[in-house]
Amino acid sequence: MINPHEIRKEFPIFKDNKTIYLDNAATTYKPQCVIDAVNKYLIHDTANAHRGDYDTAYRVDQIIDETRSLTREFINAESDNEIVFTNGTTMSLNMVAFGYAFKFLKKGDEILLTYAEHASNTIPWYEVSKRTGAVIKFIALDKKGRVTAENLKEVITPKTKIVSLAHVTNVLGYINDIKSISKVVHEYGALLVVDGAQSVPHLKVDVQEMGIDFLAFSGHKMLGPTGIGILYGRLELLEAMDAFHGGGGMNATFDPDGSLAYFGPPLKFEAGTLNLESIYGFNAAIKYIKKIGIENIAKHEVMLRNYAVEKLAKNENIIIYNKDAETGIITFNVKDVFAQDAASYYNSKGIAVRSGQHCAKNLKHFLNTPATIRISIYIYNTKEEIDQFLEVTEGVENYLDAFFD
Ligand code: ALA
Repeated sequence: MINPHEIRKEFPIFKDNKTIYLDNAATTYKPQCVIDAVNKYLIHDTANAHRGDYDTAYRVDQIIDETRSLTREFINAESDNEIVFTNGTTMSLNMVAFGYAFKFLKKGDEILLTYAEHASNTIPWYEVSKRTGAVIKFIALDKKGRVTAENLKEVITPKTKIVSLAHVTNVLGYINDIKSISKVVHEYGALLVVDGAQSVPHLKVDVQEMGIDFLAFSGHKMLGPTGIGILYGRLELLEAMDAFHGGGGMNATFDPDGSLAYFGPPLKFEAGTLNLESIYGFNAAIKYIKKIGIENIAKHEVMLRNYAVEKLAKNENIIIYNKDAETGIITFNVKDVFAQDAASYYNSKGIAVRSGQHCAKNLKHFLNTPATIRISIYIYNTKEEIDQFLEVTEGVENYLDAFFD
């Protein structure tokens, strides 16, 4: 079991920043080991990768290779070549949309999404639809807002080529049953693209066991630096997919006559200089998470979440939108208080929450509200912090009075 008080000692931000940070779905704090790893690159190991014939460059190459292997192991991919470094989930999903779907989809093909998707898993597909004539269809959410294999069966057809959805949705925080969804997707010969931004940092993801074709996630939501993300793709799909951008490091040769040869995956997708210090940091972040144990992370979040929901549910001024979600995301409103006003109130009490539509703008039609407040928990959050959040919540309905006191 996690002891968050011990964990906090490893996060320098807690020394001088007393904010109760409950916006971990947006980004996470960084432990000292991640900061040290970034600094190691900046202070001792600065060199470009795959280009230098000298010791420092070899060290950088070695960290890149090691990080790829660590990532492969972390999500149980079959080969290191299936792990592409990107700058984050958004870029990874765009690469699949423009490199794969744009190449292979045609007029009348279908792409299935849900109303719960983040903009990163919506806008690229709208663009593919505009450019290819493929049609976007939505899998209905069940009453609570979950995606189910049954609802998928209602809408999937032989024309469906791509089903793209979040493993854990960023507003409602439900864990979608990717394994059973994948079975249906593959029965129809379609591909399953999974936005893992809110799942990979919190629970075990096994791409082979779950039957995932493409998986996207970000380093900064799992204790790593910003500017580093992963695209996992089954090797044969990455081989068929076009490179999103061209440049150094991804081509084997080119000549004035226009002849051109690319390396295979993953290098084909990694044109230009990678975000090397972030790869160093991401390497340390994965090792740190492995040390803590991903199952322990999930347990800690669920324990705090259940505690908070139980108390919140007793407050008749609070509307909770995802009472029985299985992750550390709780989304709610305070009756008659605009979400952003409530967030300002929490801020005035030293508590960081997120408010608004959380980049999932289609969901407002399902939730029937223009904005919500979201808290999201991670390994360093304590029961005492949740108690403070609950105490402040008691006063939120008096927001205007309190603010102008
Ligand atoms: N995707 C991040 C969130 O949901 C930014 O907050």
